[in-house]
Formats: sequence, structure tokens, C-alpha cells
Amino acid sequence: MSDAALSYPLMERFSRAGQGQVFAFWDRLNEEERRALLEQATEINLKEVARLTSTLLGHEATSAVNLTDLEPAPYVARPESGGDAAAWARARAAGAEALQAGRVAAFTVAGGQGTRLGYDGPKGTFPVTPLKRKPLFQVFAEKIMAVGLHYGRPLHWFIMTSHANHAATEAFFAAHRCFGLDPARVHFFRQGRMPAVDFDGKILLESKGLIAMSPDGHGGSLRALHRSGALDLMKSEGVDTVSYFQVDNPLVRCVDPEFIGWHLLKGAEMSAKMILKAYPEEKIGHFCHQHGQLVVIEYSDLPLAVQREIDPATGRLRYGPGSIAIHILDRDFIARMAAESRDGATGPTLSFHRADKKIATIDAAGNPVRPSRPNGAKFEMFVFDALPFARNGLVVETRRADDFSPVKNAEGVDSPRTAREDQLRQYVRWLRSAGAPVPADASGLPAFDLEVAPRFGYDEATFAASWKKLTPPPAIAEGLYLE
Ligand code: UD1
Repeated sequence: MSDAALSYPLMERFSRAGQGQVFAFWDRLNEEERRALLEQATEINLKEVARLTSTLLGHEATSAVNLTDLEPAPYVARPESGGDAAAWARARAAGAEALQAGRVAAFTVAGGQGTRLGYDGPKGTFPVTPLKRKPLFQVFAEKIMAVGLHYGRPLHWFIMTSHANHAATEAFFAAHRCFGLDPARVHFFRQGRMPAVDFDGKILLESKGLIAMSPDGHGGSLRALHRSGALDLMKSEGVDTVSYFQVDNPLVRCVDPEFIGWHLLKGAEMSAKMILKAYPEEKIGHFCHQHGQLVVIEYSDLPLAVQREIDPATGRLRYGPGSIAIHILDRDFIARMAAESRDGATGPTLSFHRADKKIATIDAAGNPVRPSRPNGAKFEMFVFDALPFARNGLVVETRRADDFSPVKNAEGVDSPRTAREDQLRQYVRWLRSAGAPVPADASGLPAFDLEVAPRFGYDEATFAASWKKLTPPPAIAEGLYLE
């Protein structure tokens, strides 16, 4: 269809929905600009925008989270926290079997904008390892390759990007030849976008020919996995279990047989890894039970006084179980959640959250407006909101030191420095448990830089096996790189 033929019914629909301002400058746009605007406009579900405007921006909208009947969620405790060691061994075996059968794919959400880190470029390209300065994507690629080799089945890896970073992400992988992975098993797809609106629900223009749009949150990954054909590909490849993790965490075990095994043995449709919060203000979500359902309450939504409550029975934080955004999801569950409630169809769907932002826009005359305080809202979905919809939703404890040290801020907590130090401490622990003495301070941090490549060891057991083969063992000193 020509642009003109496409444009009139679309413009008509926008104006009937009270969103005619989107095309206010149509007459002043050239052909290319018109095409781009139409492309954006066709992505927008006007009924969804209207619904969000009334539910999230309307008079009755409230941002306060309902705290009635809220309690911390139960979880599967690790053996050292009193869990059943034999059951953990059974879980490990079940996970290993699924990996040997090729049932598991890795999945990274990498569509975020990384604003807090202040890094220009896809976050996965940020260098993180202590010695070789490997970027996050390379760390994951090498771990995924190592697990595939260990279990004799190479894994598929799905990477969700955004409109803003898709091309740069693909180019980065191409330039590094997929870090040795088979390119046919590395799949990129873009997440969806949502328009930003002012506080009256009017869609904002970024410029005369561009709608202000932003990624629809990591919860958009469920729709995007479906829409991109990734779920179909998984089905044809015999993959039914998806190992989900965020792009910001170099310590993550991208594919963890114990976690996968617990998920499978418990017949869960979605599982989540958990650590106990280190301190009340730690910026992680809280696993809770409410009205019989498993939910995550974000750190920004749970009042600080509640986050600080102590459980008198244990002397620990009452809302201690924290989310580190690592999940296992069933492929069929994703498909069910992805059935979009477009145009009236019903089914379980993730709700949107509203975030008020300063949104660069234009005024009625087309002049740029750079607001100094929030002038509108963006809408995002969160993947953990799928948990209440999952049959047998499960929370499984992990050791922080084995799975979590994110790079979120340029300095201070959760920064490149803390992630680097946590990687070094992990190498020291592995070396010491393999019998090698390593000088380190009281926190386990060595006085010099070293690095272990995932193909040498990606956990304590695989590290120990490789270390045993080194005769004589190398000197443990500045610059040691084990690969
Ligand atoms: C997130 C979780 C929090 C969890 C913490 C653990 C939310 C709202 N909160 O917090 O519960 O305890 O991580 O580290 O997520 N992303 C996309 N597309 C988007 C938005 C984000 O792919 O549209 C990806 C990012 O690339 C990143 C991840 O999602 O990998 C997390 O996003 P971010 O906004 O940084 O979440 P946090 O506030 O750090």
C-alpha cells in the first residue's frame, strides 16, 4: 500500500482516539519523515494507550502498592541454609539431563538504556573483567559456550535488544565473530516500544515527525519472544526451558543446572533466583506472598519502614528474600503470557507500570521543549509480574557470590569496581578450594589482578577439574590468566 493510502485511515483512527496531534505537522514533513512517522504510528495500540491513560493516569489511579495480606515468600533454601542436600543433588542431576537433551536456551534482556551507568553504547559492550577487560557479552558468550561443551549440546542464545541499540549490538557480535559461538545459534530481536504521553494521556512528539517512544520494559520480552518467532524456533529445536538473565551482571551463571533442575522437578512454569538482602535499602525487588500469590514488590514500591522490619524469630530482615532477576521460564508459559490482549482478546497479560519522566518534546508551534521536571509518563512491563500467573511459581535460593554483582552505577555500590572485585574474590575462592594458597585480604580480595576464562572453569567444580590437570600448577601472581 502507498504511504498515502496507509496514512488516511491511520490518521483518522488517531484523531478519533483524541490523538490527532501526532500528525499536526504532517504537511511540513518530507516523504521520508512521513514514512518514519507512519511506521511508528502503526506500532501503537491506541486502545492500550487509552486503557493505560484511564487506569494509570486517571483520577482513580494510585501509585501506592497495596500492602494488605503481604508476607515474605517461602523459598527453597540452599543446603548451607538448612535445605535438603540430597534434594539439591537430585535437582542438579535433573538440570544436567535437560542440558544434555538440548532442552535449555539462554536468554539475555539487553534492551535497557543504561542511563545510571552513563555509558554510551549497548551495556553488553561494557568491559568488566579484571585483567582482559572482556565486555559483558563476551563473558556470557564464553560461559554459554563452556556449558554447551560440558554437557555435549551447544545452546541457543537469544538476546533482546531495543530499537536504540539493536544495530550496534549486532555489529559488535559480528566484529567479534560471536566470540566463537556458532552464529546460527545466536539470535537477536528487538523489544517493543510504547509511546510517552503527557499527564492528560496525549501522545507526545519528540520532533515534528517523530513520536516520543521508549522500550516497553523487560516484561515486553515475553511478547517480543513470541512476535519475533523465537518461540517457534525454540519449539522446532526441542527447547522448552528458557534461562533468563539481565545484561548487567557478570557473575550470573547464565545456565545453572541446579536452578533448572528445581524448576523442572517442581513442575514450575516460572522460577526465580533469590538472595537475602544485604541491607534494608538494597535496590532489589522483594519476593512476597499476597492473597495466596507469589509476587515481586519493587524496592521503590515497598515503604522503607517495611523494608527495615526485623523478624523477631530470626533477627534478620523480615522482607529479606530479594530478586536478582534470574529466572527460568517454560516456553509454553511464555507463549500463554504473550497472547496479547490486543483489541479486546482476553487472557493473562502483564500490567504496565507508569514512570513519570522529563520527556523532550515540542510545543504546538513545533519549538523544542526541554522540561526541567517530569512532563509526562512512560509505560513499562516487568517480567517478574508474570510470576503470579505461573503454575507452581518457585523461588530458589542462591549464593550471592556465585550469581550476583551487577554493574548499574558509575561509582559506589553495584559499579564496575565492585563487580571487578567480586570476580576476583570468586577466583580466589575457587583457587583455595582447589587447594592453591592465594594471598588475599580479609574480604577475600587478592592484592593483584588475575582472571579465569569460563572455558577453564565457570564454577567451583569445573575449575577444580581443570586445575588438577595443570602439572606443575602455575605461579599465582599478578597477571595470571587461566584459559
Ligand atoms: C532490576 C529489577 C529488580 C532487581 C534488580 C536486580 C526492575 C524494575 N527491577 O532493577 O527487581 O532486583 O534488577 O539487578 O527491573 N531492560 C530491557 N528492556 C527495558 C528495560 C530494561 O531489556 O525496556 C533490561 C536491561 O537491559 C537490564 C534489565 O532489564 O538488563 C534491568 O533493567 P533496570 O532498569 O536496570 O532494572 P533495575 O532498576 O536495576
